[in-house]
Amino acid sequence: TLPTFRTVALLRDTIRAWQGQGLRVALIPTMGALHAGHMALVTRALQVADRAVASVFVNPTQFGPKEDFASYPRRESEDAMLLMKNGGHGLYAPTVDEMYPEGFVTSITVGGPSAGLCGDFRPGHFSGVATVVTKLLLQSGADVALFGEKDYQQLQVIRRLVRDLNIPTVIEGVPTVRESDGLAMSSRNAYLSVEERAIAPILHQTLMAMASRVAERAPIAEQEAWGRKQLLTAGFRAVDYLSVRDAESLTPLDTLTGAARILAAAHLGKTRLIDNVGVRPA
Ligand code: PAJ
Repeated sequence: TLPTFRTVALLRDTIRAWQGQGLRVALIPTMGALHAGHMALVTRALQVADRAVASVFVNPTQFGPKEDFASYPRRESEDAMLLMKNGGHGLYAPTVDEMYPEGFVTSITVGGPSAGLCGDFRPGHFSGVATVVTKLLLQSGADVALFGEKDYQQLQVIRRLVRDLNIPTVIEGVPTVRESDGLAMSSRNAYLSVEERAIAPILHQTLMAMASRVAERAPIAEQEAWGRKQLLTAGFRAVDYLSVRDAESLTPLDTLTGAARILAAAHLGKTRLIDNVGVRPA
């Protein structure tokens, strides 16, 4: 069975012992309900490090009061089996009390890439993410930590946070893993009904269509309006945002200059889906 650590002390001592043997250690932060997208992070971790530890912690501080914290899927034993099958060396699964002991009052707020997009629709979300990721990096002392491009804004927020606070962990981004029809893999896809699941891949198709036209210099505002209409016509209930941004700063773009990213969040029934694709000038 996979070694499972419940406390900061055990995690830190284990990783420190590995590092003392000259081994490079990778951390893969997750909220569990692991799938092939998470496993791509584990596979990449094993290419850049000698030991791969995944954390599974459904972080209460990054969920809004009307969001799915209580119903978020929790299946630790399946997660441990999948992780072991994919070559992981350990699982860090702290309790909420271990992570946020009585009296916890500190939080990390990142500016820049936290503003706009999901930042506008999920107040406090990135502060919750930044705080828990900072804690995970400091608790583990990992040499490298891996994050998916699936949550592209989150990845940029973490890159900035680590740079701004001089956290010595190397941050590695990993491309989005998709189902064969293009839908980005997500623990939340399990919420979709059969009808919604059939509509869901239109999110990625729309982003790809926009990307090829924006690369060919189609006006950005026109493409954003087209994409939004496309999603609503397909059956998405609401579009939180659909926006072409600078790939690093995530600031809005009027015209394509360098590397850009098209990011979207849209509601399908009670499920909120996000996705993004890269664009560069043709
Ligand atoms: P979670 O949604 O479980 O995702 C954990 C990591 O897996 C994130 O870095 C995410 O981008 C990556 N990931 C998820 N689906 C992916 C896919 N289809 N392809 C590639 N990577 C994928 O993101 C979080 O948890 C939390 O916010 C966390 C960073 C753990 C902080 O609580």
